[in-house]
Amino acid sequence: MASLNDIRSTFLNYFAQNGHEVVDSSPLVPRNDPTLMFVNSGMVQFKNLFTGVEKRDYSRATTAQKCVRAGGKHNDLDNVGYTARHHTFFEMLGNFSFGDYFKTEAIPFAWDLITKEFGINPERLLTTVYHTDDEAFEIWKKVGVPEDRIIRIATHDNFWQMGPTGPCGPCTEIFYDHGDHIWGGPPGSPEEDGDRFIEIWNIVFMQNEQFEDGSMVELDMQSIDTGMGLERIGALMQGSHDNYDTDLFKALIEASASATSTDPFGDKNVHHRVIADHLRSTSFLMADGVMPSNEGRGYVLRRIMRRAMRHAHLLGAQDPVMHRLVPSLVNQMGQAYPELGRAQSMIEETLLTEETRFKATLDRGLKLLDDELSGLPDGADLPGGAAFKLYDTFGFPLDLTQDALREKGRGVDTDGFDVAMEEQKAKARAAWAGSGEQADATLWFDLAEEHGVTEFLGYDTEHAEGQVLAVVKGGDAVDTAAKGDEVQIVVNQTPFYAESGGQVGDAGLIRTETGTARVTDTKKVADVFIHFATLDDGEIAKGQGAELSVDHLRRGAIRANHSATHLLHEALRAELGDHVAQRGSLNAPDRLRFDFSHNKGLSAQELANVALEVNAYIRQNTAVETRIMTPDDARALGAQALFGEKYGDEVRVVSMGHAATGKGTGGETYSIELCGGTHVKQTGDIGLCVILGDSASSAGVRRIEALTGKAAFAYLEDETKRVAELATVLKAQPSELVDRVKGLLDERKALTAEVAQLRRDLAMSGGAQETESAKEINGVSFAAHVLSGVSGRDLPPLVDEHKVQLGSGAVLLIADVDGKAAVAAGVTEDLTDKLSAVDLVRAAVAELGGKGGGGRPDMAQGGGKDASNADAAITAAEAVIGG
Ligand code: ALA
Repeated sequence: MASLNDIRSTFLNYFAQNGHEVVDSSPLVPRNDPTLMFVNSGMVQFKNLFTGVEKRDYSRATTAQKCVRAGGKHNDLDNVGYTARHHTFFEMLGNFSFGDYFKTEAIPFAWDLITKEFGINPERLLTTVYHTDDEAFEIWKKVGVPEDRIIRIATHDNFWQMGPTGPCGPCTEIFYDHGDHIWGGPPGSPEEDGDRFIEIWNIVFMQNEQFEDGSMVELDMQSIDTGMGLERIGALMQGSHDNYDTDLFKALIEASASATSTDPFGDKNVHHRVIADHLRSTSFLMADGVMPSNEGRGYVLRRIMRRAMRHAHLLGAQDPVMHRLVPSLVNQMGQAYPELGRAQSMIEETLLTEETRFKATLDRGLKLLDDELSGLPDGADLPGGAAFKLYDTFGFPLDLTQDALREKGRGVDTDGFDVAMEEQKAKARAAWAGSGEQADATLWFDLAEEHGVTEFLGYDTEHAEGQVLAVVKGGDAVDTAAKGDEVQIVVNQTPFYAESGGQVGDAGLIRTETGTARVTDTKKVADVFIHFATLDDGEIAKGQGAELSVDHLRRGAIRANHSATHLLHEALRAELGDHVAQRGSLNAPDRLRFDFSHNKGLSAQELANVALEVNAYIRQNTAVETRIMTPDDARALGAQALFGEKYGDEVRVVSMGHAATGKGTGGETYSIELCGGTHVKQTGDIGLCVILGDSASSAGVRRIEALTGKAAFAYLEDETKRVAELATVLKAQPSELVDRVKGLLDERKALTAEVAQLRRDLAMSGGAQETESAKEINGVSFAAHVLSGVSGRDLPPLVDEHKVQLGSGAVLLIADVDGKAAVAAGVTEDLTDKLSAVDLVRAAVAELGGKGGGGRPDMAQGGGKDASNADAAITAAEAVIGG
């Protein structure tokens, strides 16, 4: 029996053999369509090829595309588990022609594959065509379908549209008749909704494009888009009409049953189906970068998860279950979708965290629900206020409450729920308005209320399409902005990062059909992202579709700096101690700045150690991982959080590096931080980190500035040049520079000592002549001398030598040091009881513009401002001797 994996391969191989390029499934979050929540069919990634806007080097393609229908227009969530064919996640097999073949090839391809390769009995098949499409009718006849089994359908069932706008066209479908033991009628009949006749393949003749204003035009090209649900065709080929009865689903259902120790079938089966389906959608969404949150896509993900978790609860599971099923899923689908295996541990952890957290309120919420119901008349709907309380306090998404009530045959007053939600928003708004933010911010808050907050796509992509929700000029919302205007643009979803957490806002381009705006900065108010832009060309109007592209090089540099900041933080803690905590940071494209608590400057050696460690982790080149969890779980993990920062009920945790050196403080993972910023994929992407230096930022806070990537290499290049220049000057190899400089310093020290000695010798040789001219005053022989070229330090040894030469007497030496005077006097031992060197110095110093002077009776020193008065100083000293 062919497995789903076999069927997928057979399909892709068949079209590859017929000249089709096998293209990978696109991620579930559409990059090229702002109106679509998730990719919901195979053609989404090719949308612009059908309209001719985009060209690729192939005109035939085939894919197995991941699809999610759990939000927005195509929402199958509520039915999953209760029907044979509803899924939130499914795979759509398809073949595509972009202006290449059309109906005459597409129909035989499909017929040939189904009846020959798949070996499905043609007698069981019937087809439908759009009521006016005679050509398709004739082609079906030609391949061998009897006329009475080609049904003309006049409704939109046979006119396929992706959404309200975009490429579209009439279609033809293939149906399988499961036999009269199942209730149902052929397409177009009143019983068509039964399970007997099942659509298995839809072939769309893409020949029109639908516009927003309702008009539809013929496209220049005629193209083909087809879609066959793998789960359906799989069920059929495995002899069932129930998609959950296939090899893949049976394996997942078995896993769910074994994890909950329950029977896979019987009355438990519905729960296992929900769990199996939701396991697929949630895991694939997370593998494609969607994380549970309270907004947008992340909230849809959370709703699906919680629905599955409640069903696990209904199975009596005491402990979290979902994460234990992920290995089965990876086992089943990891080969076809390697992204699943790569994200496995992250998916498991996120599911575990979410389920642990949800379990904490699930029981209490369900109890509240029961209490509310017991007070209501039989069959009455649950009041909206109660449903809102379940949502607000216990984290029950509305559809989870509806799902729980469905089993009891009850509904929810959804209008009442909406009213309660509105009231809460109004309160939040009043509280916010009272918080003293600047007045013009009300504009952004109004936008948040009208359109919801901006969805940020920039963790995974730098390009996306969005819809212009507002253009603001001079503080007022305008309909259109023209060339030269400075504006702020708000879009429903954006890849632009808005300044926060030290990371600067993104720059780049916003383009619409009519104009281009250059974005210089992005900020956010009330989670509305504001693109600060100048219109470079044409016009941009509210309501237009827009292409948003982040400046890639600039963002790349910011990312490298931000990730390096995390490594730097950890390296500082490892080097200086756990008291190091972040006090501020800047992650700009050209540099990074990191302020941290530490109360003295870093030594050159400490800075070098930190830089070496950061670079070791860059070279380690491990993946940077992101997870969403509660602040408590994050702290338990050892994540570094900003002191005094308020965090919501969930945080993003960024980890990098394996603590190979054993120095990291984050357990096995080197750096774990709470962070909303954008980061490199692998630490190696940082390239290099150069620390420029450390300085004081404020009391007890040091600041390190550093460069990464290209800027760091540019800095090294300059430094290499400086080193080369120095090596040339010193006539040494760069590697010899340190020894050479040390040698020069030693040499200098020796020379300085030698010079001092020579000076003293020189002064003495002059002094010897003077000795003969020593005066006799009051019976004391007195030598006085004015010296230049010697320092104050040289004087005492000179005084001693004079004393030796005099035998008995007094000496006064005045050194002229750049116009200032240094003075020393000496009195031989035999005279000190009647004459003190201190008195001599004091008398001399007074004449030299100085004060004081001191020492012992045999040797004293002092100084003065003005050496030109040396003669007067000598006279004064003579007067002291003369009494
Ligand atoms: N795009 C078409 C569908 O989803 C084939 O049914």
